[in-house]
Amino acid sequence: MLVSAKEMLDKAKAGHYAVGQFNINNLEWTKAILQTAQEQNSPVILGVSEGAGKYMGGYKTVVGMVNGMLEELNITVPVALHLDHGGYDACYKCIEAGFSSIMFDGSHYPIEENVAKTKELVAAAHEKGLSIEAEVGAIGGEEDGVVGMGECADPKECKMVADLGVDFLAAGIGNIHGKYPANWKGLSFETLDAIQQLTGDLPLVLHGGTGIPADMIKKAISLGVSKINVNTECQLAFAAATRKYIEEGKDQEGKGYDPRKLLAPGTQAIKDTVKEKMEMFGSIGKA
Ligand code: 13P
Repeated sequence: MLVSAKEMLDKAKAGHYAVGQFNINNLEWTKAILQTAQEQNSPVILGVSEGAGKYMGGYKTVVGMVNGMLEELNITVPVALHLDHGGYDACYKCIEAGFSSIMFDGSHYPIEENVAKTKELVAAAHEKGLSIEAEVGAIGGEEDGVVGMGECADPKECKMVADLGVDFLAAGIGNIHGKYPANWKGLSFETLDAIQQLTGDLPLVLHGGTGIPADMIKKAISLGVSKINVNTECQLAFAAATRKYIEEGKDQEGKGYDPRKLLAPGTQAIKDTVKEKMEMFGSIGKA
C-alpha cells in the first residue's frame, strides 16, 4: 500500500540520511525502482512530473500501475507516489487519483500568492492523508537551451512557507535540474544552513540530484536535507545502455528486437543507478 512521505522523511531527518525520489517515465522505470528499493530494504519515493503523468496515460493509470506492482511484486518497503513540481490543478487531480504525496510548486508566484495557494493545498492534502512539499526559490535548469543558474531561497520566506504546515520543503540553494554546467559554483551551504536554522526539524528537499558530487550530497544531508530528487541520471544511464545494445547489433540477433530484451540493459542500468544513489544517500536498510 502506498504511504505518505511524511513518516519516512521525518525518520530520515532524525537519522541523518536522505530518501531518494526517483522520477518514473514508464513501466520499466517503475519496476526497476521498486525492485531496487525492495532488494536494498530502502524506503523510496516515486516522482511523477505533470509531463510524465500525461505521457503514461494520466494520473489514474499511474496509480493503477504502481498499486498493481506493489501487490504483485510483493513490495513491502515504504513507497510514496509523489507529484513532482505540480501546478495548482494537477495537485487536485493527483489527490483525487490516489497519489500519496504531492508537491505544489508555487515558486514562480509572488511569495504572497505562493503562500495563499500552498496553505489551501496543505489543507486539501492533509484531509486525505497525503503529504505535501512546497518550494521556495526557483530551481534552475535548462529551458530552450539556456541553463538557468538556480536561485538561492530567502530563509525568511522558507520559514513563512514552512509554518503553513507543509511536510517537507524544497528550497533553491544553487541547485539545478539536468546536468550541471562546467562553470557551476556548487551548492550554497550558507543558504542551506540559514534555512535549517529557521525551519528546525522540517525535512528539506534537494532537487537536481543528478551530478552532485558525493561530498556535497553528504554535507547537504548533514545540514538537514532528507529527500533528494534524481531524474536525469537514470535517463542518461538508460539511454547509454540501450545505445550500447543497439550499437552492438544485439537487436538484430535472434529475437533481440523483443522489447523485453531490448529494454533489459537500460532497465538494469536504472537499477544500478538507483542502488548507487541509495548507498550515497544512506537509505539502505532503513525501510
Ligand atoms: P535531475 O533531473 O537533475 O536529477 O533533477 C530531478 C528533480 O529535481 C526532479 O524534481
